[in-house]
Amino acid sequence: MNINDFIYQTPQLLPDLGSYKAEAPSNIALVKYWGKYGEQLPKNTSISYTLNKCKTETKVNLVKRIEADDHFHFNVYLDGKEKPSFKSKIETFLKRIEVYIPFLKSFQFEIHTRNTFPHSSGIASSASGMAALAKCFVAMESSVSSGFTKALKDQKTSFLARLGSGSACRSTGGKLVVWGSHDNITGSSGFYGIDYPYEVHNNFRNFRDSILLIDEGEKQVSSSVGHNLMHNHPFAEQRFHQANENITKLRSILTTGKFDDFFALVESEALSLHAMMMTSMPYFILMKPNTLEVIDKVWEFRKSKGVAVGFTLDAGANVHLLYPEQSDAEVKTLIEEDLLQFCQGEKVIHDDIKF
Ligand code: PMV
Repeated sequence: MNINDFIYQTPQLLPDLGSYKAEAPSNIALVKYWGKYGEQLPKNTSISYTLNKCKTETKVNLVKRIEADDHFHFNVYLDGKEKPSFKSKIETFLKRIEVYIPFLKSFQFEIHTRNTFPHSSGIASSASGMAALAKCFVAMESSVSSGFTKALKDQKTSFLARLGSGSACRSTGGKLVVWGSHDNITGSSGFYGIDYPYEVHNNFRNFRDSILLIDEGEKQVSSSVGHNLMHNHPFAEQRFHQANENITKLRSILTTGKFDDFFALVESEALSLHAMMMTSMPYFILMKPNTLEVIDKVWEFRKSKGVAVGFTLDAGANVHLLYPEQSDAEVKTLIEEDLLQFCQGEKVIHDDIKF
């Protein structure tokens, strides 16, 4: 696929006024993306599970045709309330995708968005948010383009979402999604995510993700600042190499179905991600004391009970507990009895992955 294939082919055609709706899920990476180059291209391959329940629902209303000038004319609303603070990130996104979706400057439009999970929960909404918005734009394009095949549409949606937030390209379709070109994953690309193309053992097809909300505050360091700190990072090259090796290892684990190997790899990925943060200059720590309390309890529980469960972390303090269906009852008891005390407001979100 050539990126020119994503350029809007019918500049004379404008979509009709009206509402274009879409929803997109959140995702949780097993092998993490941290470090980028060029226009939102990843320095290493990553792979994520797509969550079932944590989603963003978005509606773009094309309100009025206008004479296109040098600006985008739009407002953003979260849960029905205008959110001027969201505009600059979206404006950056719109500028990046202008060559691919050029008709937006010909409209005055509104973006209405809501998350199925609490906005202040510390769960990244940028992946699901940018993915849902990209879907709306592709729906507009589809309404006026003939010959826009499903495959091209799916790729373009992921391609656009990536330009909003890198990990968003893993939230536009598929249940286990790979992003970043890798010799051992046929069809993989840095430009968009692809559905993992190989066999996956049943052990990994019905999984749970219980998100323990350790800290609901704003992150002190944004992901984009974190990615940039990978330039000139003393361990960057080794980290990119490690992640790419982990993709190869994970491919084999996903076939054999071994939980121990899976959790060893996934936990090491999470801690390596945070190790990069702690060893960048300036350095920073996103984990909180309660993040470590939870990790410690999970390790103790797994060792003493032999239950299949492990953790991963995003760029934040929250802990994602990953476990297969058969561990459900025991892990839920662990959460209720031992882990809720470490969560802010005793909050946890139970999500799942099924395919
Ligand atoms: O998509 P961004 O730029 O917010 O980066 C997110 C990166 C991590 O969530 C930390 C890891 C990942 O691969 O999702």
